[in-house]
Amino acid sequence: MPQKPKTAGRLISFEGSEGSGKSTQIARLAAHFQKIGREVVTTREPGGTEIGEQIRNIIVHNSKGDEMCAETELLLFTAARAQLVREVITPALGRGVIVLSDRYLDSSTVYQGIARNLAADPVAQVNRFAVGSIMPDLTIVIDVPTEVSLARLKQRASDLPDRMERENVDFYNKVREGYLVLAKGMPERFIVVDGTKTEDSIEKKIWSEVQARLK
Ligand code: TYD
Repeated sequence: MPQKPKTAGRLISFEGSEGSGKSTQIARLAAHFQKIGREVVTTREPGGTEIGEQIRNIIVHNSKGDEMCAETELLLFTAARAQLVREVITPALGRGVIVLSDRYLDSSTVYQGIARNLAADPVAQVNRFAVGSIMPDLTIVIDVPTEVSLARLKQRASDLPDRMERENVDFYNKVREGYLVLAKGMPERFIVVDGTKTEDSIEKKIWSEVQARLK
């Protein structure tokens, strides 16, 4: 019989617009946990599994992407998530690991529900079906004004903007507002941090909040 892990697994998701600095802060939070002897697994959405990475390609790089309707987009994002939950997250939590996820179900609530205007109920139902009982213990929203986020996107050395990154200011304003509204409604799960502060101070704030909340 497998041994019960000595520590409880935890799922912490990171949310925010493009260019909010999620990946930097995920790496820094992972280092804090590792320093105190915790095993950490980091995942990204969409993707994080072989099947999920293929779905990601359809969503962001498909040449016919501009014809994709919002419903299809929702189902593809949640399909990738369903795979990630069963293949990676659930087994890791069972081993007592800390899972840090770059985006999770709140991305669908905000991007497809609020910004793309799909009705909230079906989005919530599809999200629930995809994740089953695996809800985040904590969700960290890195909040940055839309202008800052778009300016950072432009500076990224990488290739041409992908399909999601070509959206307009109005779309990103809805994304930002959407996260703030969600966080306000579920203060016990959400932590909102100011993404315009220095990387060091954001790191400190996140680590102290996480320690306090996960006691
Ligand atoms: P990615 O390149 O990972 O962007 P980021 O570094 O900002 O996370 O691309 C993910 C894109 O997909 C991003 O624009 C957000 C969007 N997205 C959704 O619209 N719905 C979702 O459920 C998820 C997970 C992502």
